[in-house]
Order: sequence, then C-alpha cells, then structure tokens
Amino acid sequence: MADPTETSAPFAHYFTGPADDLPRRPRPVEVVVDDQRLSLVSDAGVFSHGALDEGTALLIARGARPEAEFTDIADLGCGWGPIAVSLALRCPHATVWALDTNARATGLCADNARASGVTSVRSVTVDADPPLGGLDPEVTFDAIWSNPPVRIGKAALHDLLRGAFARLRPGGTAHLVVHKHLGSDSLQRWLDAEGYPTTRRLSRLGYRLLDVGPVTM
Ligand SMILES: C[S@@+](CC[C@H](N)C(=O)[O-])C[C@H]1O[C@@H](n2cnc3c(N)ncnc32)[C@H](O)[C@@H]1O
Repeated sequence: MADPTETSAPFAHYFTGPADDLPRRPRPVEVVVDDQRLSLVSDAGVFSHGALDEGTALLIARGARPEAEFTDIADLGCGWGPIAVSLALRCPHATVWALDTNARATGLCADNARASGVTSVRSVTVDADPPLGGLDPEVTFDAIWSNPPVRIGKAALHDLLRGAFARLRPGGTAHLVVHKHLGSDSLQRWLDAEGYPTTRRLSRLGYRLLDVGPVTM
C-alpha cells in the first residue's frame, strides 16, 4: 500500500493538496496498461509519490474494462492519473473526467495524459463540500472508477460516493478498490444497504475490487 503520510508535511493531508510553496519533487513511475509501458510523473503533495499504489495497480490490471460505447467515464480522486490515463487508452472515444480536490494532482494528471498521447482526459479540480462541487452539473457518467479517498473519514466518503453515484446514468456502474484494513468490507455492506448492489470481483493482497451497480436510482 502506498504510504500517504509520505506526502504529509507541511500540509495536513494529501487530499487537501499541498501549499503552493511545497517544493516540487517530480519522480517518474512506470505504469503498465495492457501491452504499453507508460512513464508517468508523480510529485510531492500528491497521493502515491514515486510509486504506483498496489491497489491502483490491481484495479488497472484486473478491474472492469470500459465498454466501447461509453461516452463519459470518471476517475474519482484521480491523483497523478494512473487510472484516468489507463481508461483513456482503453476507451479512446469517451471523455474521461479526472476529478480531484488536489489541484497539483489534477495538473499532473493532465500533464501525464498529454505525455501519454491521449487527448480525452478532462482534469477538474473539484470541491469536497458539496461533493464534486465545481463540476458542470450537466455532466453525467456511464461508469466510475476509483481508488477512493477512504482517509477523509467514513461520513465524508459516503457523501462523496452518494454525490458521485448521483451522476451515474441509469444502469451505470462503479468500480472501486479498497483495502480490507481501510474498511472495504464495511463499505460493501454500506453500499448494499444504500441500494447500490455491490459484488466482490476479486480479493488479493488484502485489496478488494468492488463492482457497484447497475445503479437505477
Ligand atoms: C487513494 S487516492 C487515489 C489517487 C489515484 N487515483 C491513484 O490511484 O494513485 C484518492 C484521491 O482522492 C482525492 N480526493 C480526496 N477527497 C476528494 C473529494 N472529496 N473529491 C474528489 N477527490 C478527492 C485525493 O486528493 C486523492 O488524490
């Protein structure tokens, strides 16, 4: 598991974003998407600095694939963009909405998409309150992928997921990776109880890949 505390000083949490004067420390990270080896750039103040998170790697390698007919898909909490870029490579006709509260993260994600030769990633720095605040209210998604920010706390995470799932088109789906030590199993129970039918696609190294939906609400 990537250590989010690695990015902690001198700001409170990786998800609030670094202070503007936090020195840049760009570090390359290799991300393998199918038969492509991408060299992406991570930076200080952003989740998973200098290494691809193991859960994210599992979601990319073994998670659900986007359908060819999708037109709008989202990476909720994009960080420096490994999931968003992989989605864009696999679903070149869809707009990939890369959403994060951390402005340095969305900037890196946009740069990494460009450097990978994809033009369909739209990086948007969103507000946490209300969830996805600042994203055009007309934008809806066929499906969402996420290594979600569980460290924001259960109540905030639930609000974020409710807000994001409200953007799913009828029959939409979501594909999450969460570690069991970070509450994957209670999250699955909560999702089911909320009316978001959830199945466990895979369990490996303590990570759960959860498939949510189809969502009809
Ligand atoms: C576990 S990290 C995953 C980052 C990236 N997708 C990856 O796999 O390396 C979760 C991300 O969610 C972002 N985040 C935190 N709160 C958020 C919110 N309310 N809305 C959107 N993104 C948020 C964090 O800044 C962080 O980049």
